[in-house]
Amino acid sequence: GQPDTRTPTGAETGAPPTAFGQQGAYLTTAQGARLRDTDHSLKAGPRGPLLMQDHHFREKITHFDHERIPERVVHARGAGAHGVFTSYGTAANLTRAGFLKHKGKETDVFVRFSTVLGSRGSADTVRDTRGFATKFYTDEGTFDLVGNNMPVFFIQDAIKFPDVVHAAKWHPDREIPQAQSAHDTFWDFVSLHTEAQHHTMWNMSDRGIARSFRTMEGFGVHTFRLVNDAGETVLVKFHWKPKLGVHSLVWEEAQIAAGVDPDFHRRDLYDAIEAGAYPEWELGLQVFPDTPEETFAGIDLLDPTKIVPEELAPVQPVGKLVLNRTPTNFHAEVEQVAFHLGNLVPGIDVTNDPLLQGRLFSYLDTQLTRLAGPNFHQIPINRPHAPVNDMLRDGFHQHAVHAGVAPYKPNSLDGGNPFPTEENSFVDVPVTVTEAPKVRDLPVSFQDHWTQVRLFWLSMTPIEQEHIIRAYTFELGKCYEQAIKERQLQCLANIDPVLCQQVAAGLGLPAPAPTIELSEVTPSPALSQVGQQWPAD
Ligand code: HEM
Repeated sequence: GQPDTRTPTGAETGAPPTAFGQQGAYLTTAQGARLRDTDHSLKAGPRGPLLMQDHHFREKITHFDHERIPERVVHARGAGAHGVFTSYGTAANLTRAGFLKHKGKETDVFVRFSTVLGSRGSADTVRDTRGFATKFYTDEGTFDLVGNNMPVFFIQDAIKFPDVVHAAKWHPDREIPQAQSAHDTFWDFVSLHTEAQHHTMWNMSDRGIARSFRTMEGFGVHTFRLVNDAGETVLVKFHWKPKLGVHSLVWEEAQIAAGVDPDFHRRDLYDAIEAGAYPEWELGLQVFPDTPEETFAGIDLLDPTKIVPEELAPVQPVGKLVLNRTPTNFHAEVEQVAFHLGNLVPGIDVTNDPLLQGRLFSYLDTQLTRLAGPNFHQIPINRPHAPVNDMLRDGFHQHAVHAGVAPYKPNSLDGGNPFPTEENSFVDVPVTVTEAPKVRDLPVSFQDHWTQVRLFWLSMTPIEQEHIIRAYTFELGKCYEQAIKERQLQCLANIDPVLCQQVAAGLGLPAPAPTIELSEVTPSPALSQVGQQWPAD
């Protein structure tokens, strides 16, 4: 085959990536010329002006002037670590993905945890959703599981993502608040777009103030489709279960930590790994039959604002993740890592969830700007550990020296290489696309915005409910517009009268009556954090 001309890096050789960046014992210019002095610029006499010819000065300052890259448009603040995923082999009947199929198979991973709303320099312990993005460097190509620590999302259609983010980030005029959901535009949005109420309550619950990245659950949120060796498919939801159990801060702790140690979560992750207390998670699957309706127990599996309670579909463990190495360089690894839901391997496919479908476009698109051009897959942290033999050529920041003259197929000049092959290759599941009309509507089943929020509320223990009431009261109390508070109280009335009355009392406002009939739901013990622990070894 065509030789792989990519520059070897730490990611491929196992050597730390620093070997690529810094060599030799002497300080040099970027061109490798040894330097005698880096502390004094070249001047016309000791008191004279700087000389333009001081190339070392200009190289040093110019490079510094360009050190920053744009922060992520969301999830700007994060921390990451390397680790290993070990398969239990229990998913062998569900997927042909080698990293899940073979018992004992080990796969290198990189995980980035993040908050969503704050900028790169914001505090760790603010009330927010948290990202839990995992890059599996499998033998069959890279698989990215780009999830959050909450199993539902604010919106059902990706076309609303810019809107919800505009509403949730800082006000455009004052850039206040920097990192929390305590303001008018956020509550304006979620009270008008009531599909957001479920995710909002997860945020107002203790889940919104995680104790540590090490004590967070992770969720793929969307439903995915797995394909096994026989071509049979199932629908699944991915879950990460922390070995340490699920733990949160209490609000007062979160506020103090944000002041005393804004790096609380980042420090905790690095200190734990450096101390050898490697954080562990179990990867599990909720498995559903792949039926044409794509529903389970009446729940639409394509609606990302809905969960499937674990009592109805238990999480089946399929492997274990251990994070055992901190990054060598934050910028090179944590800042430059680029996740994408389209990074799939044979045996794992997407579904038509309209949020997921939009995400398939957005990540690559944003990374073209954030990482300056189309070759960011060559950055060491983003390089697959599987051999790469693509026909992508040239472009900004091209580091490979590709051999051959015919990057097209078929060709008669480069020995016909690279060969397309069916062996171990990704094949899209031939899901039937019905003769449906082109529409912008969502399915009718997406219209129930209330039942599962009520389920979540009623599943909480009394102390957890008290925390939720206090969180709504505190956050809504920061709104300037009374009409927005009143509209959100109406939403709470449609979830539960007690919740609504308590928050209304805290805000000094009357509690409205529900405008809908409250649904009958059976509380789900698995939704409450108390006592949630890893299954026994
Ligand atoms: C970044 C999760 C919905 C666009 C991220 C990150 C996570 C994440 C974990 C941070 C990745 C990292 O650490 O580098 C989710 C989840 C979603 C969701 C779980 C819903 C289930 C969306 C939607 C869009 C979107 C609907 C757009 C249509 C982005 C963008 C970034 C991002 C542009 C920045 C990526 C980068 O700069 O590399 N998301 N997200 N997300 N997300 Fe999402």
